[in-house]
Amino acid sequence: MSLPAGTHILPDPQAVARAAAERLIAACGENHSERIAICLSGGSTPKVLYGLLAGPDWAGRVPWERIHWFFGDDRVVPWDDPRSNVRMVREAFGHGSRIAPTHLHFIPSDAGAEIGARAYERTLLDFYGADGLAPDRPLFDLVLLGLGEDGHTASLFPGKPAVDEARRLVAPVPEAGLAPFVPRITLTVPALASARHVLFLVTGAGKRAPLARLAAGEDLPAGRVTGAGAVAWLLDAAAAG
Ligand code: 6PG
Repeated sequence: MSLPAGTHILPDPQAVARAAAERLIAACGENHSERIAICLSGGSTPKVLYGLLAGPDWAGRVPWERIHWFFGDDRVVPWDDPRSNVRMVREAFGHGSRIAPTHLHFIPSDAGAEIGARAYERTLLDFYGADGLAPDRPLFDLVLLGLGEDGHTASLFPGKPAVDEARRLVAPVPEAGLAPFVPRITLTVPALASARHVLFLVTGAGKRAPLARLAAGEDLPAGRVTGAGAVAWLLDAAAAG
């Protein structure tokens, strides 16, 4: 199969995380302003990266005081629920994280998917400083994404209306396409694609099938995130097959 353009195959999940950390540092280095915007992915794959960034080898290279961290999606559960991406990110960065609380922009989950989606869109636009996104001024410096076994990314599941959302930046997802089957709130394709760099992290043999489908040209949500900036895929050998 021919993998998506911008694909890099690395030996294992640790190597994927190290390569992602290098790219994150490089993306920060390209932005000389006071604020850098990074969109985090949920799921389990990026935990290694988050732990690495906060650890002794990397923490000194991360410009923590300038980075604002956003979320690509979350599950509509309390933030301390084991299914919450807020909880995952907090635990993965660890208690020694140098992220200022005001720089961590969680998706609100306490008032339901619709209200949470509207509130988070406001958060994004307030940060961006306009009422809509301009094609020549991306919202994010870097968007991290994962790939689900059904081809979803963030909480954009195949066949669900959020995938086709062209106007809103954040959409409610009343029914998830895969476990955990709780409502989700997700950034939409226009928001995720408003990035200087998009980076997919994909590890494990379970990802071979969706990668093969993408390579065959199937229209899956993950394949829709093609922004103005560069899209790169970091795969481990097990995922690449
Ligand atoms: C989530 C995600 C989701 C994830 C993929 C891959 O919150 O579930 O953002 O899109 O990235 O499902 O998940 P894994 O990394 O756990 O395989």
